[in-house]
Amino acid sequence: MKLALIGYGGMGSYHAANISEMNQKGDLSLTLSGVWDIDPARREAARAAGFAAFESLEEALSSCEAVLLATPNDTHLPLTQAAAAAGKHILCEKPIACSLEEAEQMYRAAEEGGVLLTVHQNRRLDPDFLCLKQIVEGGELGRIYRIESQVCGGNGIPGDWRKRAAQGGGMMLDWGVHLLDQMHLLFGRPDWVHCVCSFVLGEEVDDGFLLEAGYPGLLYRVEVDTNCFVPRFRWLAFGEAGTAEISDWEMNGEMVRVKERVDPALKGVQAGNGLTKTMAARSEQTLEKLPLPKASLPGPAYYRNFAAAAAGKEAPFVKKEEVLSVFSLMEEALRSDRERRVISLKK
Ligand SMILES: NC(=O)c1ccc[n+]([C@@H]2O[C@H](COP(=O)([O-])OP(=O)(O)OC[C@H]3O[C@@H](n4cnc5c(N)ncnc54)[C@H](O)[C@@H]3O)[C@@H](O)[C@H]2O)c1
Repeated sequence: MKLALIGYGGMGSYHAANISEMNQKGDLSLTLSGVWDIDPARREAARAAGFAAFESLEEALSSCEAVLLATPNDTHLPLTQAAAAAGKHILCEKPIACSLEEAEQMYRAAEEGGVLLTVHQNRRLDPDFLCLKQIVEGGELGRIYRIESQVCGGNGIPGDWRKRAAQGGGMMLDWGVHLLDQMHLLFGRPDWVHCVCSFVLGEEVDDGFLLEAGYPGLLYRVEVDTNCFVPRFRWLAFGEAGTAEISDWEMNGEMVRVKERVDPALKGVQAGNGLTKTMAARSEQTLEKLPLPKASLPGPAYYRNFAAAAAGKEAPFVKKEEVLSVFSLMEEALRSDRERRVISLKK
């Protein structure tokens, strides 16, 4: 399938390099017809990297059977409408749009054009997420009662458009969409959500947030911070029979199960200005260390699936109902922040 890449910025150039590498390895399920970017300097950059660059969106649309939209979030709706009207399938970068209403308009346009519209939720294939999924499904930790998912860095909100509300900026739409999509994939829609956004960097959009979502017997916590200068873990899973930490994207971490509930050697220890037995380290023989499950799905799987789904041979990895449900979750979370209250999602 011939694909035109729309937008050759950070993510567009990443896609172009990935697709070209996949083609060089002999996988031609999807090839690039070329690149369209409104910025002439970016078109030049695409040419310098060895890709064809078009001089208009129309030229790009007439070169292909599908488009990959890697442009700022506020452009996804008009570009989808143009591509769908031209009968081109659409792989859109996340977040699909700036609002649920826009996302619904995009699916309507795709349906009217008789084309596939799906979203690049690539973090569904991240090794850390696939590992966490195996921990949840594997049962080694017993019943899971809390999951903490966090992504923290100290580089602020990157670039220009991500700082503007009208362009779909802010960390809820940028990272929240990945982390809530992962949560939704594991457990579906929660019963309630509570969220507090942070605005410490003085921008008009959120630079981070702390969200809690409630399921029967399970609390799922999501934290994003762009003003954090110490390393934080990526995942914590608390089960009745043990705990797992996935520390980082390099898959450092550990999974520990309790073998004997009562530790006969437990002694009180000095802790700050006090003494504790409750929080003292347990003796090794009461615990069992297990390796973290290993799981990976290579990046090209995504492009292959898109080509197969457009040809009607496979279901797309990311489905309309999921995209709309996750977007509505993000909107409820932002409403929880504005109204300073827990939002019930029970029908
Ligand atoms: N899935 C992921 O892991 C991931 C990572 C980063 C970004 N993204 C998403 O990719 C999209 C692009 O983000 P980015 O970081 O590459 O932004 P960017 O600012 O680096 O690049 C955007 C490019 O789009 C071009 N552009 C703007 N409006 C256009 C239009 N109407 N037509 C054609 N070109 C246009 C700009 O000139 C620029 O070159 C966003 O939706 C973002 O959320 C996804």
